Amino acid sequence: MIEILENVSLKAYNTFGLEAKAAHFHEFTSITGLIEALAQRKEDQELLILGGGSNMLLTQDFEGLVLKNGLKGIELLSEDDDHVLVKVMAGENWHQFVLHCIAQEWAGVENLSLIPGTVGAAPMQNIGAYGVEIKNVFEHLEAVEIATGEVHRFDNASCEFGYRESIFKKEAKGKYVIASVTFRLNKTPAFNTSYGAIQDTLEAMRVETLTLKAVSDAVISIRQSKLPDPVEIGNAGSFFKNPSIDKFDYEGLKAEFGSIPGYKQPGDLVKIPAAWLIEQAGWKGKTFGQIGVHKNQPLVLVNYGEGKGSDIRNLAFEIQASVADKFGIELTPEVNII
Ligand code: FAD
Ligand code: EPU
Repeated sequence: MIEILENVSLKAYNTFGLEAKAAHFHEFTSITGLIEALAQRKEDQELLILGGGSNMLLTQDFEGLVLKNGLKGIELLSEDDDHVLVKVMAGENWHQFVLHCIAQEWAGVENLSLIPGTVGAAPMQNIGAYGVEIKNVFEHLEAVEIATGEVHRFDNASCEFGYRESIFKKEAKGKYVIASVTFRLNKTPAFNTSYGAIQDTLEAMRVETLTLKAVSDAVISIRQSKLPDPVEIGNAGSFFKNPSIDKFDYEGLKAEFGSIPGYKQPGDLVKIPAAWLIEQAGWKGKTFGQIGVHKNQPLVLVNYGEGKGSDIRNLAFEIQASVADKFGIELTPEVNII
């Protein structure tokens, strides 16, 4: 019999630092424990799988069962001259895994340094930063089907990865618990330093020979300069995705708002920084009691301590409406609203 706790505060389990109570709560540390917890769940009981809580907005108490992922372990499955295959249990901390790879000189995830959360949540939205996404190093994952308790394997193609997207946010939403992820990492690094400020930061750090650690340190330094640390100010990273629009629509906006930045995408699309749209709509640095829009990065909504999730959700709606009104662009939340 597994132990299910009652009336547990989730404040310490989400990086927004929002207060919300879970009616039922269990941390599983083995796959059999997870399957047992799923079997004990009542048929109509709502379920929330919790990793590091760094990409969710809790807007109210959760009346169902919260299952916190405590699956741990990193295993080298095989290696050849060029690659290693590494299986990582889903409850491992993502950044600690990245540091482990750097220490072993396994290349491929160094640009994804300092992203909060667990390994198991990383495929959910195909985490990405500084020109790399996990789909670039993803081999397969194993997931427990919630309805049956059966373990299924998803390879790279069947995860249907896209920009902050996967099958687990679409057809497979709410149907699986990701239990482990297997990565194919490189023994010879193919450094990717072309994105954003990495090259300039490496120069400022006086790095002469590129190493995985140097790239990781540069990414960490840029991230620390741009994004608020959730330990100090509650947040969940970018609240919205960067929208892509048709290039003709982009040209129309360019004629009206000359300085609008845009990055060409495949299929005649142009990606616009949501941060720019939100700043132009007048939201940057705005504070409303205990919540607000971050002063350096307007794509990040923040909780200064005692804010409420429902107020942050309402602020997000207002931002969406004003951006739609000014630019005709719909912002889609990246954060999972619970
Ligand atoms: P959680 O918030 O716990 O869960 C997220 C969603 O996945 C929820 O719907 C949850 O139910 C579901 N879920 C979690 N684990 C599982 C599982 N094992 N099986 C099935 N479903 C599961 N993201 C980026 O892509 N790039 C960035 O650069 C980035 N920077 C960030 C910076 C900051 C300061 C913060 C706070 C967040 C940032 N994020 C970024 C977002 C976040 O870190 C990632 O989305 C991360 O993968 C979330 O992991 P988590 O374990 O905290 O997920
Ligand atoms: N900008 C402004 N005003 C600002 C800040 C930024 O106009 O105050 C504009 C500028 O044009 C700037 C552009 O926004 O060039 C991009 O800003 P930034 O480099 O900070 O990146 P981002 O697009 O806001 C994305 C990801 C981040 C990821 C970084 C680095 C999304 C939704 N966000 O942010 O991911 O770390 O690039 O690759 O794609 C996350 O998903 O939670 C996240 C933090």
